[in-house]
Amino acid sequence: MQDTLKKIKEVALKDLENLRTLAELELARVKSLGRSSELSQFLRTLKDRTQEQRKEFGQTANRVRAELEEEFEKTKNRLEEVGYATLEKFDVTAPGLRARRGHVHPLTQVQEDINAIFVSMGFRVLEGPEVETEWTNFDALNTPADHPARGMQDTFWLKDKKSNSKDKNWLMRTHTSPMQVRFMQAHQPPFRMIVPGRVYRNEATDATHEFQFHQIEGLMVSRKGEHAPSMANLKGVMEHFYQRFFRDPEIKVRFNASYFPFVEPGVEVYIQGSSGKLAGKWLEVAGAGMVHQNVFEQVGYVRGEMQGFAFGMALERMAMLKHKIDDIRLFNGGDLRFLQQF
Ligand code: FA5
Repeated sequence: MQDTLKKIKEVALKDLENLRTLAELELARVKSLGRSSELSQFLRTLKDRTQEQRKEFGQTANRVRAELEEEFEKTKNRLEEVGYATLEKFDVTAPGLRARRGHVHPLTQVQEDINAIFVSMGFRVLEGPEVETEWTNFDALNTPADHPARGMQDTFWLKDKKSNSKDKNWLMRTHTSPMQVRFMQAHQPPFRMIVPGRVYRNEATDATHEFQFHQIEGLMVSRKGEHAPSMANLKGVMEHFYQRFFRDPEIKVRFNASYFPFVEPGVEVYIQGSSGKLAGKWLEVAGAGMVHQNVFEQVGYVRGEMQGFAFGMALERMAMLKHKIDDIRLFNGGDLRFLQQF
């Protein structure tokens, strides 16, 4: 009898050795200790034995049962530990890593705001080439080669003239105004349009100057007459734009006389707001004026027949004022700590 019990114990312990999962453990437990197990059957036969045998075998059998139960418990703990360790490696409940989402560059965001405001006033949004001819960038804009105003915009000239024509010098556009010329050559008034885009100037950089920045050109022209765009209209358009752009209905606009070869009269546009950085002082925000008749003539209109205004502002300056940014170089610096604020 003792041998039977010893064998039962050995088999059960051997089964435990190779277990790898809690499910396998349960199967082994049923096999070794369950109601149909050899051990249970053995215990059930005790009643047919003598009282002495019952006592002796019963004690041994119960001891074996207790020992096996202990071994099963130990194995369960071991498997559970391994199980948790595996779970730690693949913790399905752990929060996922937050995926970094890209977003639109602050300058693009500001550009989209600006476009939307002008579109709501009936302006079209157009783009133009960054590589321009000397004629379109300067001459047609009433700035011939010997004109002193040429020096106002330091130019990147292109060595590769890209053209067989002798009289075409190529450059990186220094402003968006050449699109006035291109557009008027191809269209008859009335029209109103803006041209956002990159411009280039051969200048040293500092906190407010880049050699590459963006401008927004505006142009509104009609045939001369009662409803042709006037300086007063220009002021109204500017006022409406800046009030909406800075979300400040108190913004006032002031014109200071200035000089740009392609407008007459020419002005610098100043604004003053009611709060924040715009409060208290007048800030220069754009150049503007009535389109010079020489320009109309250059693009093929009859001198004296058309009337309109033009304006030009720098996108970076708008974004810096809006977001209180004090260094223009941050826009192209690629520093994520800066970019992620927008
Ligand atoms: C012009 O470029 C004119 N084409 C604007 C214009 C258009 C006047 C239509 C009249 C009618 P200006 O050179 O001042 O003007 O440049 C316009 C704006 O660009 C300036 O007010 C200034 O805010 C910005 N700006 C000029 N140079 C730089 C630079 N290096 N970096 C960043 N912004 C600049």
